[in-house]
Amino acid sequence: VSRVVVVANLKGGVAKTTTVAALGAVWARDGLRTLLVDLDAQACLTYAVGVDPDSVDVTVAEALRGSPVTGAVVDTSDGPWLLPSDLDLAGAEEEVGRWPKPHAAVAELLAPFVDVVDVVVVDCSPSLGPLTVAALAGADALVVPMTADILGHRAVGHVLETVDQVRRSVNPQLRVLGVVATMVDGRTAHAREVLADVPERFGLPVLAVVPRSVRVAESAARGRSIVTAAPRSHAAAAYRGLASRVLQDLVGEADDPPRTSSGP
Ligand SMILES: Nc1ncnc2c1ncn2[C@@H]1O[C@H](COP(=O)(O)OP(=O)(O)OP(=O)(O)O)[C@@H](O)[C@H]1O
Ligand SMILES: [Mg+2]
Repeated sequence: VSRVVVVANLKGGVAKTTTVAALGAVWARDGLRTLLVDLDAQACLTYAVGVDPDSVDVTVAEALRGSPVTGAVVDTSDGPWLLPSDLDLAGAEEEVGRWPKPHAAVAELLAPFVDVVDVVVVDCSPSLGPLTVAALAGADALVVPMTADILGHRAVGHVLETVDQVRRSVNPQLRVLGVVATMVDGRTAHAREVLADVPERFGLPVLAVVPRSVRVAESAARGRSIVTAAPRSHAAAAYRGLASRVLQDLVGEADDPPRTSSGP
């Protein structure tokens, strides 16, 4: 049974998409059947893993509207499969918002993959729209990328408020594995203070500290993740550490009684 990991933060530009692409590349290389899901109409993940949104026939938007979702899956150079997005997802998300049970949308979307893939990684848009809520509602675990500054710190608080609501209403099993510090500029005193405060204030571990590196944007422009394009970089090493840590947490969870239904 596949595990669903969501990477989310309501704050924009904190490396959600970069983190999803990196986790996918590491896990696929390690032989896990890995599916990436682009839930952002900007389709940045789709681009970042080397797929032109204009060239795909079926996207997440059509799948939400009832096209067979397995027909939307495409291969990527780094290895994982991808459910691509395009601008059309903005309209589809509005439609989902009018469904009787919008929060069930992502669990329903992923149901055909439950026995086919080992791990699903979902990239969310920087908003609290119906699809972000549905992603949390259909997930086993959440990873929160944050920038190591005071605004990034505040944003984590906002995500956790949303998690509380989702747990209370539809998905009590949702686990927050921790935060990933992203684009960290050296070990400044401010960054150190902000990161040191995360376990205390939020009760969450800092799963990895990813340094800022120009190679991250360069590799995304070539449709590759930092872990395949620049495997010797510090950023790649940090993402490999993150991937093994998250996987450990997910597998540890497998000792618990399995969830019997994928939907709320
Ligand atoms: N470690 C890093 N070093 C340098 N640049 C980075 C790093 N991680 C991400 N970036 C760059 O920062 C920008 C934002 O990253 P990304 O698109 O992953 O963020 P996001 O949270 O998904 O953004 P959005 O909220 O718009 O979806 C991109 O240009 C990306 O290449
Ligand atoms: Mg993004």
